Amino acid sequence: MPRFRPLFTTTVWTALAVLVLPAHAADPSSGGATYQRLCAQCHGSRGVPVLPVAPDFSAPTALMKGDGALLAVIRDGRGAMPAYQGQLKERDMLDVVAHLRTLRGRR
Ligand code: HEC
Repeated sequence: MPRFRPLFTTTVWTALAVLVLPAHAADPSSGGATYQRLCAQCHGSRGVPVLPVAPDFSAPTALMKGDGALLAVIRDGRGAMPAYQGQLKERDMLDVVAHLRTLRGRR
């Protein structure tokens, strides 16, 4: 039934995409490794800032902004916060944001 093959192929790829794509959702554990390597020196390993002007990610009111706004700060930098565009991929930045969300209220 060669006539049905294209439909079959599309169905298989769609099913594969549905199965595989959730594994690519932001990964807080990969983000945690990046955070400890690049961010903890200022933001503290648990989000309590080492650098006094850095925001406290462990505060219950921290990180009320959306992922896009946080991503923009990580990408472009702000004040004493360095820009990571070119150094981190978009995916790595999203993983770090997912990790940041685990720090809130932990203190
Ligand atoms: C050299 C010190 C330093 C390093 C390294 C650093 N930051 Fe920052 N970060 C800051 C400072 C200072 C601010 C506050 C900037 C401002 O508003 O003036 C900040 C702000 C932020 C904000 C904005 C928070 C908000 O509520 O608006 C995010 C998100 C952030 N940093 C994430 C990161 C991530 C992720 C990394 C590592 C990839 C990182 N930072 C590395 C110093 C640093």
